Amino acid sequence: MSITTLLWPYENGEKRGLPKFFNSIGRKISKIRAKWDRSYLLPKPEEAKAEEARMAKIALDYFNLDENRELLAIPGKSISGGVPLTEYYLLHRYLRRHKPEHVLELGSGVTSIFMSHALWLNQQEDPSYDGHIQSMESIEKPLKNTQSILPEKQRQFITFHLSPVVADRWRGDVPTHSYRDTPYRPYSFIFVDGPLAKVYPTGDHLKCVETVKGPIDILADARYRSMEVLDRFIRRGHVFADHIHELGFAKGITYNMIQDRPRMSMPLKHRNVFEAFDLSV
Ligand SMILES: C[S@@+](CC[C@H](N)C(=O)[O-])C[C@H]1O[C@@H](n2cnc3c(N)ncnc32)[C@H](O)[C@@H]1O
Repeated sequence: MSITTLLWPYENGEKRGLPKFFNSIGRKISKIRAKWDRSYLLPKPEEAKAEEARMAKIALDYFNLDENRELLAIPGKSISGGVPLTEYYLLHRYLRRHKPEHVLELGSGVTSIFMSHALWLNQQEDPSYDGHIQSMESIEKPLKNTQSILPEKQRQFITFHLSPVVADRWRGDVPTHSYRDTPYRPYSFIFVDGPLAKVYPTGDHLKCVETVKGPIDILADARYRSMEVLDRFIRRGHVFADHIHELGFAKGITYNMIQDRPRMSMPLKHRNVFEAFDLSV
């Protein structure tokens, strides 16, 4: 057993006695290392607040454009939790700019409607565009609601899957919760907003990284643990958190970046998600 494994600070709720002791030491070392590396510093609260307000205004202006305005009525019709307007803006702009063909959404809802709208617009502009979203949901009631408010013109761009959530282990070790029936496609963009808060990190995006050959961008709504696990298994410098917008994200992840042994637990480095995805304004 290597020292990294011994001090691996990932808490899986199953450690007792000596392993638990080493686990707590591992966490302490991680925190010290994080303080030592100044790049972990967050923006000052006033800077963060100003940036949040600036982006919220930009998002509102964007959804007031003629081609997007119909989306503003959607959150009010949904029984799903939804996300802040700035995040709809990020998702919509990402899909409009990067035009991915295979998209995976974990946790359907308002975001499904905003995202499929972006794909619809892509096809309006370029009829050869053939993007599609696979959207996973485990609870029937919000899913039925989402399907009922999805505009007819967007239906061909999204397939919903009602699937149970199962506890499993990624790489035979890391405990995760995943949708049982997730279809595996050559995804280049994954949005992680489900399954509903479970003890363990989401596993679907981790499995995708192993099965998809091309680079994948991943965005996770506040699910830092799901991204921290990924961060620990791949080379440094690919997984971040935008602490202003409370989003975890990864850029251009490929299966050959995965390493056999996890690194120490570290807080995710702060980076502006709009800049990272070439969406600065
Ligand atoms: C954060 S929500 C997903 C939000 C989704 N991306 C959206 O934009 O609305 C995570 C999960 O909460 C569950 N959920 C959402 N609304 C619910 C409701 N009204 N009743 C029960 N569960 C709900 C669903 O399983 C959903 O996938």
